[in-house]
Amino acid sequence: MAFRAPFRTVSTRAKETLKIGMIPADGIGHEVLPGAKAAIQALGSSIPKTEFVDLLAGFECFTRTGNALPVETVEALQNDCSCAMFGAVSSPSRKVAGYSSPIVALRKKLDLYANVRPVTSVASSRSAVDLVVVRENTECLYVKDETQTVGTNGKEARATRLITERASRRIGEMAFEIALNRPRKHLTIIHKSNVLSITDGLFRETIRGVPTLPGADGKYDGVTVAEQLVDSAVYRLFREPHIYDVMVAPNLYGDIISDAAAALVGSLGLVPSVNAGDTFVMGEPVHGSAPDIAGQNIANPLAAIRSAALMLRHLGHADGADRIERAVDEVIREGKCLTPDLGGKSKTTEVVEEVVKRI
Ligand code: NAI
Ligand code: MG
Repeated sequence: MAFRAPFRTVSTRAKETLKIGMIPADGIGHEVLPGAKAAIQALGSSIPKTEFVDLLAGFECFTRTGNALPVETVEALQNDCSCAMFGAVSSPSRKVAGYSSPIVALRKKLDLYANVRPVTSVASSRSAVDLVVVRENTECLYVKDETQTVGTNGKEARATRLITERASRRIGEMAFEIALNRPRKHLTIIHKSNVLSITDGLFRETIRGVPTLPGADGKYDGVTVAEQLVDSAVYRLFREPHIYDVMVAPNLYGDIISDAAAALVGSLGLVPSVNAGDTFVMGEPVHGSAPDIAGQNIANPLAAIRSAALMLRHLGHADGADRIERAVDEVIREGKCLTPDLGGKSKTTEVVEEVVKRI
């Protein structure tokens, strides 16, 4: 089953025109984002008039201008755009003075507190995967509060991990809401509170407490709740993926388990996401900038295209989202026009054409 759950109502800034900020950023971001744009355009008049606004961010932008996230980009998103699409950024693995990941910053600046990542296999079989990772998007180790000192052990590096009740509560509410709208209505809390009893303990307890919050009023009674330590969660994900429906996790675990889940459906190039807050949504494929294949027109555009569908669904355009998702599923099922990550020989642009034809 495709991802059908609505999240929550987002107040769209423009009902008549969908102004979509387009941030390809780096590497294959430049190759897959045009596919997302083409899919949205193929919907024609079944969604509001669209306007695409090209915006800069990324490591290439940093090397050129000294700024990975220009203030103009943030202001355009905050003041002008109804929603956005992000490609992928190439963040170096070493410290580069003055550089900080623009996607991590954007999630915080726009308060996009949930990263919702549906992972589904197209064919239905006993080993079919149909789950949603709901990743907390603003805190955990990604607050990037790191220091280095010199002590008796030589250099000592430390990172602060932040978990708050507020962020855990709102990601918990989002996760319960998503579970409630899916057939199986099953939520698994992923944590490691056997070791990190204070931070992960707070995450776990807060999420467990969501059904008893004032205003919940029995709303989540139909949702069954389980929990799993993150390490064995990965083990069980590989052995029995069908046990999972909605998985809610702190930022770092959510990042890791969603890439792991992507392996189960064949490729990172298939798995979409939205970064969602209460007033803004940004579609973004789960994958990174894939420097190993960038510039060759062989990146799989389907994750980016599916991310556009998720973004539209979040904005209330379910019919448009369905049409895009059906077209993508058909192309995968037919198996004739696929990029090399799925065993095919087709180019990125050819796959986009096939999807657009079917929309
Ligand atoms: P990656 O996701 O870019 O690539 C991992 C592997 O998957 C590579 O072999 C790549 O070729 C393949 N792959 C990814 N997307 C694909 C697609 N659409 N079609 C076909 N194959 C695809 O992860 P990696 O290599 O760890 O990171 C590369 C860069 O991306 C790093 O600089 C990292 O910081 C950045 N990154 C950015 C993210 C973002 O913008 N949200 C998320 C993850 C990584
Ligand atoms: Mg990741």
